[in-house]
Amino acid sequence: MDLQEKYTISDLFKKVADNTIAELEGVEMTFGGFVRFNRFGGNVGFLAINDGSCFDNLQVVYSNTFADAIKARLGASVLAKGKLHVTPEAKQPFELQAETVELVGDVDESYPLQKKKMTFEYLRDLPQWRMKTNTFNAVNRIRSTLAYYIHEYFHKNGYYWIHTPILTANDCEGEGQTFDVYADVKHPTEYFNKDNVHLTVSGQLHVEPFALTYGKVYTFGPTFRAEKSNTVRHAAEFWMIEPEIAWAHLADLCNIEEDFLKYVVKNTIKDCPQDMAFFEKWVDKDVMKRLDEFINKPFARVKYEDAIQILQDAVKNGHKFEVSDIKFGLDLGSEHERYLTEVHFKGPIFLTDYPKEIKAFYMKQNDDGKTVGATDLLVPFIGELCGGSEREADYNKLLNRMNELGMNIPAYEWYLDLRKNGSMPHSGFGLGFERLVMLVTGMNNIRDVLPYPRCYKDMEF
Ligand code: 4AD
Ligand code: MG
Repeated sequence: MDLQEKYTISDLFKKVADNTIAELEGVEMTFGGFVRFNRFGGNVGFLAINDGSCFDNLQVVYSNTFADAIKARLGASVLAKGKLHVTPEAKQPFELQAETVELVGDVDESYPLQKKKMTFEYLRDLPQWRMKTNTFNAVNRIRSTLAYYIHEYFHKNGYYWIHTPILTANDCEGEGQTFDVYADVKHPTEYFNKDNVHLTVSGQLHVEPFALTYGKVYTFGPTFRAEKSNTVRHAAEFWMIEPEIAWAHLADLCNIEEDFLKYVVKNTIKDCPQDMAFFEKWVDKDVMKRLDEFINKPFARVKYEDAIQILQDAVKNGHKFEVSDIKFGLDLGSEHERYLTEVHFKGPIFLTDYPKEIKAFYMKQNDDGKTVGATDLLVPFIGELCGGSEREADYNKLLNRMNELGMNIPAYEWYLDLRKNGSMPHSGFGLGFERLVMLVTGMNNIRDVLPYPRCYKDMEF
């Protein structure tokens, strides 16, 4: 191994934050990384290298005898050895005074990241390189950190992670927006001896039995939807987190959801100050303000019926929606959701008790006969972040609803059985992971928070 794996650049910045960096004055270190910039003039040169451990770079100072360092261009990989010098009065809190710099992997003339300003769109065609740019470098780090705190939250709160399948014979949301799977297109039913196998749209149906046994469980995995929506918030392949909690009713679910999201966001931005400073400066100047409110203000809780009233009043007062015929039963569009959360409530809201006609079959039927115990969490900048509900725990009520919807009952017999034997109240929600990454980074296209986006009419790599 070339490196004495003792310190990463991130370790050094942590020691700056802890006020213990002075201990490392004069200590010999070696770093391998790629060149972020290189400035040589006269007798002295400055090479900024990044080893991937954090957003900020290490400044390597070299003199005119360092032929490899002088040659090293943006994107090249180098090994730099030297002594650390602590510089508390300078902009960089430390630098490496080079003893040797080796150019390990030079860059070709055609290396595409040489331009100063590149649009996110342009970079979408360069998925093998874009993580080396400041923005995408930070996005992937936030993504990983959010995932870590999601698992940590559940682990600390007694949830089990259940690995629900990707291949399934059910359509959880009943929308028919599934990708079909077969081993051989000429004999599509042969492999599984089934005529309707697809990629999962949600792990919910498969995780519910585990909730009824273990009490608190969750899934975290890829989900697939063949929605033909070419929007900045829809992907064909995205990751979903789906907690399912026994004995929880709708209000409990909202409490858990709020506590969970605040924990995850708060800890992620605390762990990634360099990345967040970058997003605030270059991507979305309001991002920290929005997240601060997200963490500190209680989320409002509003019934669907009252939201309809608010939207009707908005129309009366001259607000223009593309869909302005607003009445009970309307499946709210993103323009309505954003009005509610961004203009009216100016913060996250749980919208609850939707008309049963616009929600999935498994939701708890309210006593009014027309609404279900559903809740969507709407947040400024994103719109719908989570969708969830209390589940219908009564066998006959659930069966009746499934019959009303003309569902293929035998295919769901295994799921219905849960309501026959040892049924109990339970609730759960699904969080779209990419939408959370968008919220935290301020990035406004889902294609730019997925390492390799798969979207409608968009599957290059
Ligand atoms: O609201 P949805 O469809 O809910 C469910 O799938 C339930 N089974 C969840 C549950 O109760 N366990 O999807 C949940 C979330 C949405 O709120 C949204 O954030 C995200 O998943 N989502 C998408 N994200 C990106 N691209 C898409 N095409 C998405 N569709 C849904
Ligand atoms: Mg939804």
